[in-house]
Amino acid sequence: MKAVILVGGRATRLEPLTCNMPKAIVPVLNTPFLEHVIRHLSQHQIKDIILAQGHLAQPIEDYLGDGSQFGVRLYYSIEDTPLGTGGAVKNAERYLAETFLVLNGDIITDLDITTMIDFHRKRRAKITISLAPVDDPTSYGLIETDAGDRITRFLEKPTWSEVTTNMINAGTYIMEPDVLAQMPPKTRISFEREVFPQLLARGEPVYAYSSPAYWIDIGTPEKYLQLHRDLLSGKCKQYAPALGKKVLVGEQCDIHPTARIKGPVVIGANCSIGRRVKLIGPVVIGSGSTILEDSVIEESVIWRNARLGPGVSLKKSIVADNCLINAKSICEESVLGDNVTVTSGSKLKPGSRIEPRTTVEAER
Ligand code: GDD
Ligand code: MG
Repeated sequence: MKAVILVGGRATRLEPLTCNMPKAIVPVLNTPFLEHVIRHLSQHQIKDIILAQGHLAQPIEDYLGDGSQFGVRLYYSIEDTPLGTGGAVKNAERYLAETFLVLNGDIITDLDITTMIDFHRKRRAKITISLAPVDDPTSYGLIETDAGDRITRFLEKPTWSEVTTNMINAGTYIMEPDVLAQMPPKTRISFEREVFPQLLARGEPVYAYSSPAYWIDIGTPEKYLQLHRDLLSGKCKQYAPALGKKVLVGEQCDIHPTARIKGPVVIGANCSIGRRVKLIGPVVIGSGSTILEDSVIEESVIWRNARLGPGVSLKKSIVADNCLINAKSICEESVLGDNVTVTSGSKLKPGSRIEPRTTVEAER
């Protein structure tokens, strides 16, 4: 079976992390997000994967290439202008002659895809949609079902007064190719707002596959940090083998004996952790980063080539590539885009979002 991964969204809610990097290759445990998704598909014997993309397409292709290093075959379907979730899959129709899978490209899940495919076939469904329970359905597509798992209603981004269930569209679909045949080409069209409700109106068999599997959409910085907490605490089973050791240190790292590290912590290759540094997990540090003496990093994710310290305090924050946080600065609940400089002695307001390539000056 082939799979289409939708990776053409603008990812504005994840800015400033995604100003210069597509959401699809944002690092998750120091590995580009899509690599995790591709490995999950590959485990379920899905080896032909089409990436439907538009915005910031080149960096994705540069990293993933033809997929051979991950044991899969990758194909790229590019949109000149964003075609929406439905239009993007229609645009890849030439690859899709048989039953196929569609995935939103911003989801990490333990979903048992093989069992979901069996479910789809047994029901002779036109489309099967995975469902997940959430606390706040208003950011998602709400789905109502009947006792036989047939979907009776879709409601994309409901208001609280419209919420009738906590079950939402979890962004994995199995589809029959004739769904695409009925759609107009080169037209912006949404599965969730147009195609799915139209299929229901025509009485087509559209089924819901509910599962208790781990599920998260990394749409916002808060969710991105949540994902790291969950992965490092073993909530998402796919990643369990990597979590046997509570502190994972990459190659060629230099960790000073006086540094105190409380797991779960993942440190990439070629990092330097200085005297009396405290790392209080969950913490992830990207390759090539230097944490200078007396700095304290707590519940944070740092990408590649950061330089922090001395005496910096970083808590519940995300720091994108190539940032410089100078002596004694304090960052809490903040998100720094790539190539940000924070001058010595600065204190960021909690909740700060710093645009890439800017300098934060200390208040004098
Ligand atoms: N190629 C392409 N072209 N991809 C797109 C486009 C487009 O025009 N628009 C969005 N995408 C991709 C995004 O990159 C993302 O991977 C996926 O489609 C879903 O878009 P989001 O923008 O992340 O949607 P959402 O999170 O608000 O809502 C969707 O996901 C929820 C689950 O996380 C909907 O499918 C909801 O119904 C669902 O509950
Ligand atoms: Mg999303």
